[in-house]
Amino acid sequence: MKILPSILSANFAALAEDVRDIENDVDLIHVDVMDGHFVPNITMGANVVQALKRETKVAQDVHLMVEEPVNLLPSFLEAGADMISVHIEACKHLHRAIQIIKDGGAKAGVVLNPSTPASSLTSIIKDVDYVLIMTVDPGFGGQRFIHSMVEKIQAVHEMITFLNLPVEIEVDGGINSETLPLCLQAGASLFVAGSAVFNSRDRHKAIEDLIQSGKG
Ligand code: DX5
Ligand code: ZN
Repeated sequence: MKILPSILSANFAALAEDVRDIENDVDLIHVDVMDGHFVPNITMGANVVQALKRETKVAQDVHLMVEEPVNLLPSFLEAGADMISVHIEACKHLHRAIQIIKDGGAKAGVVLNPSTPASSLTSIIKDVDYVLIMTVDPGFGGQRFIHSMVEKIQAVHEMITFLNLPVEIEVDGGINSETLPLCLQAGASLFVAGSAVFNSRDRHKAIEDLIQSGKG
């Protein structure tokens, strides 16, 4: 199990400092890219991934909340993204997007909004490295976990187990020490946490608390 702090809740005016503060506590950080169309908010682009690559050794998981991400993929790959996920709802040609990410040497993920059913994965699940199940509607940090997503995590986990695939399940939105264990039990192994990490006074302790919550 891995905790991925989302830099959406970090201080954008001191991003490198905030990332360096936690880089020894985690393997990956989560980078939320929003375009103001797919979601009602604008955040950052590939230049931030590239800048952070120079400033820190921690790997980057890029979550693209943008309409038709295909044209943007080369710039994120060149910038050094280690994992990239695209929303199933935002891609006209999903397999092409996944193939571009893999050809570029990054791990490829597909993301489902809370209202998108697990069954929509049937024709793509064999082609991805991970499935990101949104546990809030994307767009903002600090929202409340949608509890009915636990069943969806279970359903996706069953699908992966049935097909015997090496696909990981990531969850994103409202993850804290109460909700993490529910997702872990349902089959998730990658946990994005924005406000639970960066809004805490002691981020090291916040990350440790999340890890401990998974151990029961
Ligand atoms: C929401 C983003 C999340 C966000 C999570 O659209 O995709 O990654 O940063 O923030 P918390 O953990 O505060 O819900
Ligand atoms: Zn995210």
